[in-house]
Amino acid sequence: MNGLKRKDLLDIQSLTTEEISLICQSARYFKDLFTRSVKTVPILRGKTVCTLFYEPSTRTRISFELAAKRLSADMINVAVATSSVVKGESLIDTVHTMEAMKADYIVMRHAASLAPHFLSKNIEASVINAGDGFHAHPTQALLDTYSILEKKGTLQGLRIGIVGDVKHSRVARSDIEAFKRLGARVVLCGPPTLVPDEFKIYDVDISYNLDEILPELDVVNMLRIQRERQKGSLFPSLREYHQQYALTEDRLRRCKGDIIVMHPGPINRGIEIDHRVADSPNSIINEQVTNGVAIRMSIFYLLAGGTPLEEMEKV
Ligand code: CP
Repeated sequence: MNGLKRKDLLDIQSLTTEEISLICQSARYFKDLFTRSVKTVPILRGKTVCTLFYEPSTRTRISFELAAKRLSADMINVAVATSSVVKGESLIDTVHTMEAMKADYIVMRHAASLAPHFLSKNIEASVINAGDGFHAHPTQALLDTYSILEKKGTLQGLRIGIVGDVKHSRVARSDIEAFKRLGARVVLCGPPTLVPDEFKIYDVDISYNLDEILPELDVVNMLRIQRERQKGSLFPSLREYHQQYALTEDRLRRCKGDIIVMHPGPINRGIEIDHRVADSPNSIINEQVTNGVAIRMSIFYLLAGGTPLEEMEKV
């Protein structure tokens, strides 16, 4: 039985709630492997994974690479800046070249929204979206969901705040979908220029006052100010942004004692989150990174036809 009845993993919308739960369940199994002295399993032996990142990445690219290696796949990492893309090769020609070399999975990050969806219709290999424009970052949302499940046991009824540059955030768009699907109540918070009214279509609450919403939150996910994507100034100054919307030590003291502090990274310390908060016992930022490897192993495994956890033999 195929765990995920699909060739590609493109966004959260196209996954069923059962598939989201299945990916998280299998990730728990793979995370257990990390405590063993031998952390590799032969699940993808003979398969080839190609990472193709048209935008910069630290966490996501390395995490996919490590996940593929721990499943014993062969890895090709295309460094776009030094590839024939700079000579004008099109996306589809680059990917057909990967296919001619028998890549089974193409993990792609692209500045254009829906680029992975276009690709998936034109090639036989499985396409995994590692972030497309402002649109989606499904594997980040799945690792965020898993990280909350691990700490809280459920998302049902949790109040989750997503704070900061929501407008430019593919993470926010995918997180909203995943968190709501598992029963969380989501509130978006930031200056009106970074949390525009268009987000009301997601059936979430919107607040422009962080101090008002913080005491009710079970989880707060702080987003990076994406200065590289902003055209013009969307808030008066970084100092003023910090005063109104940064998660500071003083604000953390006014939160529930067991609040989980998350951030997808990379962090702008001293802008959206203070140094001591990022490293506080409430912060699970580093665990999110560890969980990302387990989630991506789970996705490879289930796309390859892996069985659900309860049917899984020890590998
Ligand atoms: N969270 C995330 O996507 O980080 P990178 O840009 O480093 O991959």
